[in-house]
Amino acid sequence: MTPRTRGEEILLCGSTNACEKTSFVFLRQELPVRLANIMKEIDYLPDKLLSTPSVKLLNSWYSQSLMELVDFLEKDPDDKDVLKNFTKTLVNIRNRHNNVVPTMAQGVLEYKDAFGVDPVTNQNVQYFLDRFYMSRISTRMLMNQHTLIFDGSVNPAHPKHIGSIDPSCDVVEVVKDAFETSKMLCEQYYLTSPDMEITEVNSKNPDQPLHIVYVPSHLYHMLFELFKNAMRATVETHETSPTLPPIKVRVSLGSEDLTIKMSDRGGGVPLRKIERLFSYMYSTAPSPVHIDKSRNAPLAGFGYGLPISRLYAKYFQGDLQLYSMEGYGTSAVIYLKALSSESVERLPVFNKSALRHYQTSTEADDWCMPSKDPKKLGKNEMTR
Ligand SMILES: Nc1ncnc2c1ncn2[C@@H]1O[C@H](COP(=O)(O)OP(=O)(O)OP(=O)(O)O)[C@@H](O)[C@H]1O
Ligand SMILES: [Mg+2]
Repeated sequence: MTPRTRGEEILLCGSTNACEKTSFVFLRQELPVRLANIMKEIDYLPDKLLSTPSVKLLNSWYSQSLMELVDFLEKDPDDKDVLKNFTKTLVNIRNRHNNVVPTMAQGVLEYKDAFGVDPVTNQNVQYFLDRFYMSRISTRMLMNQHTLIFDGSVNPAHPKHIGSIDPSCDVVEVVKDAFETSKMLCEQYYLTSPDMEITEVNSKNPDQPLHIVYVPSHLYHMLFELFKNAMRATVETHETSPTLPPIKVRVSLGSEDLTIKMSDRGGGVPLRKIERLFSYMYSTAPSPVHIDKSRNAPLAGFGYGLPISRLYAKYFQGDLQLYSMEGYGTSAVIYLKALSSESVERLPVFNKSALRHYQTSTEADDWCMPSKDPKKLGKNEMTR
């Protein structure tokens, strides 16, 4: 990866003068590099995970796609047919990788069923999957940009979009959109749903709508996941009450951050469990293949809603955090960069530091809990 690898390169190219050739020359180099980097990490997964049928299948998709891309390194960028074929290849690759997330999740489940979970494996798999899914978000972003920008047509619904990027993304619109879809699902499933109260704060231009440069589909994904969780928690903890407390959303634009806070009164989660909610391995959800498809779309799937949403937030240098008060409710906060100049990609790179993560073995904890057997101390005596 070059130091300036960012989807923005494609964006700049598309916004100033659409130069398919430049984009092609960049991508035929960049995409194989990103694939190869993450394939190196796949190699370092525990053997027992690597040998599951799901991970083997996944590996074969990556090898095939890498080979197809590398083929273009020798091709002439001035040949129109080469450019056309490249776009076709990107579409094929994108389709081939459509099911990467459930397939990988299936591999993890197979491993878990056979060998159980221990904290070290959980940590390794967490480290790997965050990087693996982040790499996938980035390659799909680049492929989408190229195919959308250079397919010769303008998106009639969003003529100002540059590929999948909206240079003037109306954040509150996306919040409302995600809320409505989630509300529909919630009503199908529970026959009721909470309302939303939304507050906007634009510290830069009070009374002006909140706009940022962003990928609306990414923002929608995060908000939709958070709404589903908040609605499920709200409905399930107020089963017996006649009214449901609303979900409160506050959107605030500062000079550095665009922050979205979503607060529910769904009973909350104890602090001890918060980290686990982001874990791929400790997910309590049933296997996706076991989900009864005949039921209405459930509000909970295979437990990847939060971890994947956090990756979307981090991809452009933001974050997603959960703050909870057990017994009351939860606030989920999405942080995005307010300035597009700071919304650059955050990418995993395979190097010695990454390797070290896969090679660490179990180490003793350097914090401890005091022994359960009380020492015979005087009434107010301290142990040290
Ligand atoms: N707002 C919330 N209030 C209470 N519990 C929550 C809240 N958000 C998440 N959780 C808990 O965290 C778990 C993990 O959430 P996550 O969205 O990652 O997965 P999921 O909802 O189980 O499945 P998926 O999102 O993949 O459909 C949930 O199952 C739920 O127990
Ligand atoms: Mg969820």
